[in-house]
Amino acid sequence: MTPPQPADQSRRASVPSHAAKEHARLCEQLNRHSHLYHVDARPEISDAEYDDLYRELQALEREHPALVRPDSPTQRVGEEPQDKFETVGHVVPMLSLDSTQEAEEVARFDERVRKALGAGIDPVYVLEPKLDGASIELVYEDGVLARAVTRGNGRSGEDVTANIRTIPTVPLRLRSEERSAPSVLSLRGEVMMYISDFQDFNAGLVEAGSEPYASPRNSAAGAVRQLDPGVTASRKLHVVAYDVLFVDGATFATDSEGVRAIREWGFMVPERVETVRSSEAIMAYHRAFADVRDDLDYEIDGIVIKLDDLAARAAMGSTSHHPRWALAYKFPPRQEVTRIDKIDVQVGRTGVLTPVALLLPVVVGGVTVSRATLHNREELRRKDLREGDTVRIQRAGDVIPQVVEVVEPGDDRPPPFEMPTECPACGSAVYEDGPRTICPNRFGCPAQLKGRIIHFGARHALDIEGLGEETANLLVDRGLVTALAGLFELTAEQLMALEGFAEKSATALVDAIQAKKQPDLDRFLTALGIPEVGVTVARELAAHFGSFARIRVATREELETMSGFGPRMSEVITAFFADERNGAAIDALLAHGITPTESEPRSSDLPDLGTAVFTGTLPVARVVAESAWRGVGGNTSGSVSKKTAFVVAGENAGSKLEKAQKLGVEVLDFDAFVARLREHGGDIEVEA
Ligand code: IVH
Repeated sequence: MTPPQPADQSRRASVPSHAAKEHARLCEQLNRHSHLYHVDARPEISDAEYDDLYRELQALEREHPALVRPDSPTQRVGEEPQDKFETVGHVVPMLSLDSTQEAEEVARFDERVRKALGAGIDPVYVLEPKLDGASIELVYEDGVLARAVTRGNGRSGEDVTANIRTIPTVPLRLRSEERSAPSVLSLRGEVMMYISDFQDFNAGLVEAGSEPYASPRNSAAGAVRQLDPGVTASRKLHVVAYDVLFVDGATFATDSEGVRAIREWGFMVPERVETVRSSEAIMAYHRAFADVRDDLDYEIDGIVIKLDDLAARAAMGSTSHHPRWALAYKFPPRQEVTRIDKIDVQVGRTGVLTPVALLLPVVVGGVTVSRATLHNREELRRKDLREGDTVRIQRAGDVIPQVVEVVEPGDDRPPPFEMPTECPACGSAVYEDGPRTICPNRFGCPAQLKGRIIHFGARHALDIEGLGEETANLLVDRGLVTALAGLFELTAEQLMALEGFAEKSATALVDAIQAKKQPDLDRFLTALGIPEVGVTVARELAAHFGSFARIRVATREELETMSGFGPRMSEVITAFFADERNGAAIDALLAHGITPTESEPRSSDLPDLGTAVFTGTLPVARVVAESAWRGVGGNTSGSVSKKTAFVVAGENAGSKLEKAQKLGVEVLDFDAFVARLREHGGDIEVEA
């Protein structure tokens, strides 16, 4: 009897060489045609011919499963939905970009660069469009896509490899016809959705009763964070790569060389990249792109100016936040002139009354705008906006349109607009809190309930498909839902009685609601609409406490031990849970069988490394020391308090050292700090 062999080896041995050759040929052909179609936009064969080749490859792989490799064209969508994304570190930090809208700032940037380079050396700048998508890191090992990671906090992000694999402009294996693949390559790029695809996609969402996305960027970012790669695959994304973050096995002297290599390895790169030598040329490029901006099928929000010479870049260095050798020169927000037909008042889920201008519809940068927020009473008074006025409005990125100013007052102007004294939705007497006007009827006001329902089902909360604004309005207006828990009692029969619902859509909504009975703890917290608790804070709370039961009873003091949780925020959160009516609303949800996920509280499995404060002259720049400590999971601060874990004192340390000694806070010298860093798996390099 032969001993058992590893399955793969025995199978590979049985693949005849002609099959292996044929497999390689088909992969090469399919990759080439996919690149011609998706990246170069000049296909050489028809879709049908491509599909034939693809089916041949599938058939061959069915016959010889040992031939299947992760970079085979058949392996783009294959993985099962995931429970969650793992957090992984970036190969090198993904910094932000410094940005400005002012020409003078650009001139000052140019001066700083010239000063850094020294007299007589003229800088060469690479100019690129600033793509308005979702940032991503792509890592290739030995030419094969190993990892794709969202930007996250810049040091680590979420591993979304399975999703990024589904994007046809992302090579699963680097092309190597023109340039061989390096052993390790980390690239930075932008996940984008074409505006035309975005509009089609949003139209579909609206048709299905879901809330549309606010911008192609939000939509792309949402698609990248789907747990089911099949969903990402259906979203028509593309990736444009523009920066070599790290490479081992190739060297470049300039950014332009790097971008050329990126293109040769098979990626889509930004259009119209130019190198220039003067700030006049930068201005001209900026103007030219502003002119074509509205004709592009993708969103850009400015241009990026980067120093081309990589050695000069290294000499200029970076702050902890952004490189000193690059600047985003943004476009001004898009503006148009239109007329205010009417001023309306909306009541949000927290009871705040917001005046809203209903406008004569106008197209602003490709989007039809028919309403704009007027913020609050004081803003309205300051700008003196009235019905009938001709006004300038603006839209910056995906931000809600705003009214900038009156261009021409209307004829027969009505008197200045006054906020109502009663809530337009429930009639309760409103009260004023600073510039805001608030309806106090938290649990009886139908407008607040509508807002809470929409928030509960929103994409970043419980993500209930089909529970958009229109449906929420119907549910409340018809008395079918009087509290959040009521959502879980809805039946398909009830929904079918509402306009716009048929059996299929009614059943789908009931199923979508019922499917969220075991929500992720952080999403459940977000969905509750606790003041101050957005997505990020909810994640922090969930990771720290692990269970809803613990969070509900957390004290102010406990919350305040968490980094970033100040006294006010901690107070607001505990007050929310202490309110009896909130408690009853939550109990009703739990009574319907809602069980948020639980995990080990972070405090027990990951010791809090504490907050370090650095003072005096250190052998490395302070930001370097700070980021090293944060890199192993610690925190840093600029000031010493009782909560400080230790102070690292360099030469000539002054008042901070004194304060630490007075408070009895531990003081380390730099070497002791490095030793502590190493205990936690970190390190720091000190140049001799
Ligand atoms: S260079 C650290 N080039 O804009 C500098 N960034 O708002 C490396 N972005 O997070 C970035 N287009 O993701 C660079 N052509 C381009 C870009 C670009 C878009 C993004 C980038 C950054 C964001 C800052």
